[in-house]
Amino acid sequence: MKEQLKNILAQALEVINAATSREELENARVKYLGKKGELTAILRGMGTLSAEERPIVGQLANEVRAELEKAIDDASVKLAEAALEQQLKAEKVDVTIPGKEVSVGHRHPMYIALDEIKEIFIGMGFTVLDGPEIEFAELNFDRLNADEGHPSRDWSDTFYFDKDSKVMLRSQTSPMQVRAMDTMELPIRIVAPGRVYRKDEVDATHSPMFHQVEGMVIDKGVTMADLKGTLNTVVEQLYGKGTKTRFRPHHFPFTEPSCEMDVQCHKCGGVGCPTCKGEGWIELLGAGMIHPRVLEMAGIDTNVYSGWAFGIGLERTAMRRFKIADLRLIFENDVRFLEQF
Ligand code: PHE
Repeated sequence: MKEQLKNILAQALEVINAATSREELENARVKYLGKKGELTAILRGMGTLSAEERPIVGQLANEVRAELEKAIDDASVKLAEAALEQQLKAEKVDVTIPGKEVSVGHRHPMYIALDEIKEIFIGMGFTVLDGPEIEFAELNFDRLNADEGHPSRDWSDTFYFDKDSKVMLRSQTSPMQVRAMDTMELPIRIVAPGRVYRKDEVDATHSPMFHQVEGMVIDKGVTMADLKGTLNTVVEQLYGKGTKTRFRPHHFPFTEPSCEMDVQCHKCGGVGCPTCKGEGWIELLGAGMIHPRVLEMAGIDTNVYSGWAFGIGLERTAMRRFKIADLRLIFENDVRFLEQF
């Protein structure tokens, strides 16, 4: 039995020292020291030994066990060290290698223009509102004094969701006037930017989806002079001091009187050129004094309160601001174009 123990010890040490992985080491431990292991088998067989032999063999067996356990521990430490060494080698970082360039985008030119507009109005005490693009026809038309039969309500102009023409993609940001009147305390000063939708073919100046910024003021004693003064100030901040504007009469169902505001062409200074189509002026926005009927439908006392509103096309503003010739460039999002701003 002593011989057997010595053989097991020699064999086991060889296997343990040759182990190249934790798994192999664990297999060796099971093979020799496990419940069904070879050393364990010998210890079980000790009952057959004589009384004199038993303690001697027992002691030897314990020594062998201790030696194997120590060998396994040592081998395990060595394996761990080797693994760490390897990992450190594999994960070695060369801090002198130039870094990968991270390409950072930037704001879209139209949103740069929008942020400028927002800043100007926030500076004048306006609140910025956000509203739904899917809107009730009641708010987009009826509450804005455009009754059944108004040409803009036609199916050929407007994207409806239902056959009763009750729900639609808003065709203007003006329903935000109604939403503000219905939810806010007077006096009101708001701007509401967002997407609007009309059944237009795509060309250099049209798109079925575009952006507007609605603006509205309702207070005591508000007049057309406030409208002109405020919008002139905004235009000077956007396009530079001394930028000339003109107000032309126009018609909108929800304002009376209504007007369109033009800015003098930045290219030719008003002489007439291809940019302004020979006019010398470029149309910028629609505006007017809010129709008393619109105020009344919102329960506002027109003997006390009056207001003005405007709607500005955001793409056009950005195109003028950055001298972009074609509307489609704004939506195509070609980075070669966007990187220029
Ligand atoms: N909603 C109008 C349009 O889309 C613009 C407008 C807004 C006119 C507010 C007057 C007052 O053309």
